Amino acid sequence: MAPQACAPSAGEAAGARAANLDGVPVPESSTPFGVYVHVPFCASRCGYCDFNTYTADELAGSGSGTSPDGWLDAVRRELAGAAAVVGERPVDTVFVGGGTPSLIGAERLGAVLDAVRAEFGLAPGAEVTTESNPESTSPEFFAGLVDAGFTRVSLGMQSAAQHVLAVLDRRHTPGRAVAAAWEARAAGIGHVNLDLIYSTPGETDDDLRASLDAVLSAGVDHVSAYSLIVEDGTALARRVRRGELAAPDDDVAAARYEIIDDTLSAAGMRWYEVSNWATGDAAACRHNLGYWLDGDWWGAGPGAHSHLAGRRWWNVKHPARYAAMLAAGEAPEAGYELLGAEEQATERVMLRLRLATGLPLDLLDASGRAAAGRAAAEGLLEPAALDRAAPDGGRAILTRRGRLLADRVVTDLLTAVPA
Ligand SMILES: C[S@@+](CC[C@H](N)C(=O)[O-])C[C@H]1O[C@@H](n2cnc3c(N)ncnc32)[C@H](O)[C@@H]1O
Ligand code: SF4
Repeated sequence: MAPQACAPSAGEAAGARAANLDGVPVPESSTPFGVYVHVPFCASRCGYCDFNTYTADELAGSGSGTSPDGWLDAVRRELAGAAAVVGERPVDTVFVGGGTPSLIGAERLGAVLDAVRAEFGLAPGAEVTTESNPESTSPEFFAGLVDAGFTRVSLGMQSAAQHVLAVLDRRHTPGRAVAAAWEARAAGIGHVNLDLIYSTPGETDDDLRASLDAVLSAGVDHVSAYSLIVEDGTALARRVRRGELAAPDDDVAAARYEIIDDTLSAAGMRWYEVSNWATGDAAACRHNLGYWLDGDWWGAGPGAHSHLAGRRWWNVKHPARYAAMLAAGEAPEAGYELLGAEEQATERVMLRLRLATGLPLDLLDASGRAAAGRAAAEGLLEPAALDRAAPDGGRAILTRRGRLLADRVVTDLLTAVPA
């Protein structure tokens, strides 16, 4: 689909963006390049969620820029400006996230993908994902996604227990996520993920086992499982503070993680990142691997974050301001930071250690490698992988116990990371 006539020319938009990109090094073209597009709409707000998303009531009266079509216009403008800055660089992965992308329908999601295609082009075999909420999907929705070129869907299942879904304020019924996964596959979506949340107050081990049974009955090739985080400022945090709900317990969360890992492993899935399991390499989420492996990505949409060659920036959060800035020919940037060598080294350790492929020991200095040796002696890292004589120079790979204590291992290694 062609950009709307009222969109600024790529040159105008690029001028606005380039003013904010002074001194940015030109990214290496061999680095994977992703585009993230943020959809800031939800039918209602789940009590635990602090993502940048708005209900229709919250946006009422804030102008036409905050309608789904106004948002789409603004995203097209941002992508036109992005392409003028980035230059010719086909996109390896696209991820439309939210918020609730399925709420805006397959046609608008297809229009987003058309804009990415028109502005950058898609690399052969590009991975194209959209998040979706089970209750706003249907066979027709998935057929529309396939027609548009989406290859992957990530569904927010969270749990199969009604009382857990109720605590989380989720709108879908327990069986809907599994049914949606089958519908997606039947429509021709090649890769389907289900998101789970565990250790919700009131959830039992049996509830979690039932959720995992449901996940396995859905025939998906990817599962993400996150321990419930009580985010400040959310309705969940207020309920915990008032004593209405118990705070999630760390020991319970650790035991639940083991149940998840045991169950998914027994079913033939492998962890490839601490919170992510897939049936094989081809089912891993390439877009997220780009985040974890120093890739470049342009994040379009309100509040979206971007990273190009050591420069990181983020957009204004409110959809009205975002749309207004783009309509005025301005880049919607709210702030930026340039990552120094030390920060990049720190991030590499934090992110790569969470991957099953591990952290190359070459990224640590002698004292960092000594810390890795001590972590292995404590059972937190795989001792055999630390072999410096290995062709890859050895790697720090978390054991399962290490995965449960990943933050601590990172801290231990980071005290010794070279600048
Ligand atoms: C922000 S949602 C966006 C996609 C979609 N609206 C949904 O709810 O599935 C993406 C995922 O983040 C996870 N998530 C969000 N807030 C969380 C929290 N406080 N604790 C744990 N997981 C959370 C959920 O698993 C959710 O599926
Ligand atoms: S549907 Fe997803 S994005 Fe929307 S409030 Fe709930 S968790 Fe957050």
